[in-house]
Amino acid sequence: MDTAFDFDRYDHIRPILWTGEALELLDQRKLPFAVEHVTCRDSDEVAQAIRDLAVRGAPAIGIAAAWGVVLAARMVEAGDGAQALQKLEPALQRLNAARPTAVNLAWALARMRRVLATAGADWRQVAAREAQAIADEDLAANRRMGALGAAMIAPGSGVLTHCNTGSLATAGFGTALGVIRAGMAEGRIAKVFAGETRPWLQGARLTVWELQQDGIDATLIADSAAAHLMKTGAVQWVVVGADRICANGDTANKIGTYQLAIAARHHGVKFMVVAPSSTVDLDTASGEAIEIEQRDPGELHGVGGVRTVAEGIAAWNPVFDVTPAELIDAIVTERGVVERPAEAGMRALFAG
Ligand code: MRU
Repeated sequence: MDTAFDFDRYDHIRPILWTGEALELLDQRKLPFAVEHVTCRDSDEVAQAIRDLAVRGAPAIGIAAAWGVVLAARMVEAGDGAQALQKLEPALQRLNAARPTAVNLAWALARMRRVLATAGADWRQVAAREAQAIADEDLAANRRMGALGAAMIAPGSGVLTHCNTGSLATAGFGTALGVIRAGMAEGRIAKVFAGETRPWLQGARLTVWELQQDGIDATLIADSAAAHLMKTGAVQWVVVGADRICANGDTANKIGTYQLAIAARHHGVKFMVVAPSSTVDLDTASGEAIEIEQRDPGELHGVGGVRTVAEGIAAWNPVFDVTPAELIDAIVTERGVVERPAEAGMRALFAG
């Protein structure tokens, strides 16, 4: 047991369900007004669900892609894993291309490739076991990070989070939201603020809903209220997730994270990144090399399907940004915490 509190009490939501026949994804485009599932029966349906954000969040898209490989495996006849892998390669590449920024997607597919490369005649079962292991390990990592991150927060603190990093974005419990769940349960966190996270509203639509399911009070703020909130002294920590953490500690996360880190440093608010080691990419030296996903400018043209801007307006819609390592106080992973991240500390914990 990592900590004294009852994890199961705070861990109800599962975004990804493998039925043995199909992949059921809790449709995050419909929340919080409808709790509906998308059923994927082949790997291209999984790739589509990732692209369309029916399933989202770095760890969750990795897990969904791993099950996508299991679905693709049903369409292929092969005597062993290596033979199967050759036939599966186009499906793997389509899954990999679904979204570019979160490294968990490529990481999960690399794990699937690795086990298949040496699997024998039972390669289909090997693939299914690996997909399940990826999901199980993610849940265990989140619980461990919850305990490690919460321990850094002084009792009675206020925290601000961004985007959705909870059960919905992972196998369950969440990364930054896992720290918040653990910190609330232990009385370390007295108040939670969640930024709306324009334009897709992951904070307003998903994070607030998730916390409500657990009976945790949260206060929603407009993204543009964050610096003012910090100035009032209401928050001591900004706690966020990550899509890719480079060898030097630079961290890609949801657009708006970078400006939170700048404002936090200015106001003496600490900045914590919480992510499993599957989000760490030692092959990418620094944030300069990260591909930032650009999405349809139409996402900025309205809210909830209602147009809010005049026709003919250009919009720029990068959906991630990079927070430089020097603005991060701690990177919390299941392997441990890197304080004031830099290359030596990152390699010491993650190489090998
Ligand atoms: O575009 P999204 O919703 O997939 O972006 C998600 C984020 O940026 C999260 O903060 C990140 O993936 C960490 S989720 C545990």
